[in-house]
Amino acid sequence: MTSYKELGLVNTREMFAKAVAGGYAIPAFNFNTMEQMQAIVQAAVETKSPVIMQVSKGARAYANGTILRNLAKGAVEYAKELGCENPQIVLHLDHGDTFEICKECIDNGFSSVMIDGSHLPFEENIALAKKVVDYAHQFDVTVEAELGVLAGVEDEVSAAESHYTQPEEVIEFSQRTGCDSLAISIGTSHGAYKFTPAQCTRNADGILVPPPLAFDILHAIEEKLPGFPIVLHGSSSVPQEEVATINKFGGNLPDAIGIPEEQLREAAKSAVCKINIDSDSRLAMTAAIRQHFAEHPDHFDPRQYLKPARENMKKMYIHKIVNVLGSNNKL
Ligand code: G3H
Ligand code: 13P
Ligand code: ZN
Repeated sequence: MTSYKELGLVNTREMFAKAVAGGYAIPAFNFNTMEQMQAIVQAAVETKSPVIMQVSKGARAYANGTILRNLAKGAVEYAKELGCENPQIVLHLDHGDTFEICKECIDNGFSSVMIDGSHLPFEENIALAKKVVDYAHQFDVTVEAELGVLAGVEDEVSAAESHYTQPEEVIEFSQRTGCDSLAISIGTSHGAYKFTPAQCTRNADGILVPPPLAFDILHAIEEKLPGFPIVLHGSSSVPQEEVATINKFGGNLPDAIGIPEEQLREAAKSAVCKINIDSDSRLAMTAAIRQHFAEHPDHFDPRQYLKPARENMKKMYIHKIVNVLGSNNKL
């Protein structure tokens, strides 16, 4: 058993309480590679922001759980080396789907886990989440559960249709599970194609404008659970300049579209205290690499193209922290 405390990591409890009270949100960035980890830590240190580094089942399959855990340990030491005396870094399991995977992560250095039973019937979702909470809390590991289903087309957690969270269910769910935070469904979804063109309108320049998030549901949930930490998944904004760069240099991402940043900024001021971003990092990395290859066809050393990729991700992370989530200077 490796406790996250030995690795210098923290759980989410205190940072969420401060974020809810302070009207900002903690960034939860997915990582699969060393370059993503470095860019996340550099951005968090430079902006003096707490940060959640999250690992999906797909990331564990790609990079190996032991390697990712040690990258997170390295992240704490790296942050200190960069001049941050007291980094606030959470290592979080994203979309854990069984008790066993949550237990394995808790036993191996994760400070926070998500148990995603959102696809299950209400009673089964509660039973599974409670089982994880009962285990996790023995080790002071915090637990995120989910109520409501997000749509998504690209990853292992996708569902064809979304079902908004029903505000009348959240009190019973949070009380009976004992979860520390609750992911809700209010119109976000995973991946770089969050809406079909048919679901959007077009502005005067022909740019797709997505439908707004269901803020009425968010506010109804806040009324039922005052001050309770709420989580938004599927919150990439799919920057159109990155999509344009990808398409200019040989890519093919027609009509990729995300959540407008003003809406995320608005959400961050509410009880939403954790905002999950993965696709924007993928886009930033891919855009920089495609551009680099187009401009330097003779390059074949991965360091040559991963360096601008890392820089571009760092720029994106800093932008999110400072201009969207507002978690800068909150250490
Ligand atoms: O919520 C899903 C995250 O974007 C992780 O995606 O399962 O492809 O690693 P993944
Ligand atoms: P995006 O695909 O919008 O980046 O969402 C990521 C996410 O929710 C990870 O759990
Ligand atoms: Zn998610």
